[in-house]
Amino acid sequence: MRYLLGMLLAMPLLAADFEAGKAEERRACTSCHGLRIIHVQRLPRATWERELTKMEGWGTVIKDRAALLEYLAASYSDTTPPPTPMLSGDGRKK
Ligand code: HEC
Repeated sequence: MRYLLGMLLAMPLLAADFEAGKAEERRACTSCHGLRIIHVQRLPRATWERELTKMEGWGTVIKDRAALLEYLAASYSDTTPPPTPMLSGDGRKK
């Protein structure tokens, strides 16, 4: 019961973190490239961590790193199904 209550209380917090991560992505990650290059990745958390450090090395300023990492690791992990391709097999747009 206590566990359930804890989960219920934590849910809005998790949702808030997710939205904060998404907002941070829009703010910090779209000045050099689009979102698709990010959203087609399927990476474990540790690799996302390295990816953020790599982007910082190129000048990206990340303010809410924890929320961004949470959002990326939850949305584009190596267990997430692969993205739909933008082009069909014959190279035409879908
Ligand atoms: C200062 C410019 C810049 C910003 C801002 C930036 N990136 Fe990048 N990013 C690049 C460049 C340049 C590449 C492609 C270069 C390469 O790796 O060959 C890239 C490629 C990527 C890739 C493809 C994999 C890879 O490493 O090449 C991912 C994923 C990525 N960026 C994530 C992010 C995320 C997440 C953010 C926000 C935290 C971000 N980027 C912000 C410059 C930037």
